[in-house]
Order: sequence, then C-alpha cells, then structure tokens
Amino acid sequence: MSKLLYIKANPKNDDASRTFRISEQFIKTYKEYNPQDEIITLDLYKEKIHFLTLDDINSISGPKTDSSKEHPILKYAYQFAEADKYVIAAPMWNLGIPSILKAYIDYIAISGITFKYTEQGAVGLMKGKKAVHIMATGGEYTHGPFSGFEMANRYIKAILTFMGIELVETIVAERLDIIGEDVGKIVSEATKRAQEVAKTF
Ligand SMILES: Cc1cc2nc3c(=O)[nH]c(=O)nc-3n(C[C@H](O)[C@H](O)[C@H](O)COP(=O)(O)O)c2cc1C
Repeated sequence: MSKLLYIKANPKNDDASRTFRISEQFIKTYKEYNPQDEIITLDLYKEKIHFLTLDDINSISGPKTDSSKEHPILKYAYQFAEADKYVIAAPMWNLGIPSILKAYIDYIAISGITFKYTEQGAVGLMKGKKAVHIMATGGEYTHGPFSGFEMANRYIKAILTFMGIELVETIVAERLDIIGEDVGKIVSEATKRAQEVAKTF
C-alpha cells in the first residue's frame, strides 16, 4: 500500500480552479486504480502555513528528537518524508508558484529529514518516490517568447530533485487567459492526460 500526499495550493474552490478541476480528476482516477492506497489531502490554505520567522529557523535547524514529529513546522516535513507519491496542484502566479507553496517548501526542505549534508554536499533522502505537478497558466510557456520565463515547474522539478525525487511528471493547461482560446477544450485535454498519467502513477 502506498501513501499519496495531495498538496493543494490555491485559495479557489475545486470548481472555480482550472488547476483543481484537473487535479481532482487525477485523484479520482488514481483512487479507481489504487483503491488500497491512502490519500492524504493537504490544502495549504487550510493549514497554518506562514513565512518562516527567526524563531522558526532557530527551532527547525539542529538535531531532531522524538518530539520533533509534533513540532508545528517539522511535522509537515515528516509527513512529506512518510509519503511515497506526491500530487502538487498549483496555478502559475507571477511566473512562479503561489507564495504559500514556497512557504510550505520552506517547511519541508529540512536537513536531516528530506535531505542531508555530506562531505560531497547536499544529498536528497526522498529516493525512489515520484511526483506529478499539475498547473494551469494564463499564458504560454512550453513554446514561444516566454518559455525562458517559466519558473514554476522548473522550480518544482529542481527542489524535488534536490530532495531525491527524480520522477517528476508535469501536466500543464496553458493559454487559459488568452482571448479567443477554447478554455473548455484545453482543460478537458489536460484532464484526459491527467487521467492517463494517474492510471500508472
Ligand atoms: C496572482 C496571480 C498571478 C498570475 N500570474 C500569472 C503569470 O505570471 N503567468 C500566467 O500565465 N498566468 C498568471 N496568472 C493566471 C493564472 O495562472 C491562470 O488564470 C490560471 O488558469 C489560474 O488557475 P486556477 O484556475 O487554478 O486558479 C496569474 C493569476 C493570479 C491570480
């Protein structure tokens, strides 16, 4: 039995968010194909995620003890480390990820839990796990003049790879805010792809 962590980063509800319309179908198909698996939904807007303070930085660095698993920030890093698979659903905001998702990553990228320092540098501890990043964007970044500006999926892939997760699939619905585009068709095509990926995820 695998444990899948479904990380949602958008204040919109499932029906209003194009990202969530795709990710919810991913989860639905995944459940159909893996009824025995545990799915933990983490809606970041419902959690008490905040920007790290000086006190937070002091309390999360250093040696970990048995009580670290109950720490209000470290508990998220342990929860992440205990999962086998990750679905990250977040729209593109200002060429990157929503700030709350970055704040969450600051909670989970913790030395001694998801990676460690060695004489060769940092080594990811999340080996053998896999992730999918689902994202809706208003413009187009897979081709064309703005492709070099894309920092959401590039960042997600980089930080997950840093933590040792090498298999990162991406599902993007783009051009959604371009006037004249058939939004329904773009979302439906991305949803079909999500359902296909979910079958073997
Ligand atoms: C705060 C904010 C910033 C945004 N920045 C970008 C951006 O940099 N590039 C882009 O293509 N779309 C941008 N958008 C548009 C969204 O990515 C796009 O509308 C997407 O479909 C929203 O997904 P959702 O329906 O899941 O919320 C932004 C939207 C918001 C609310």
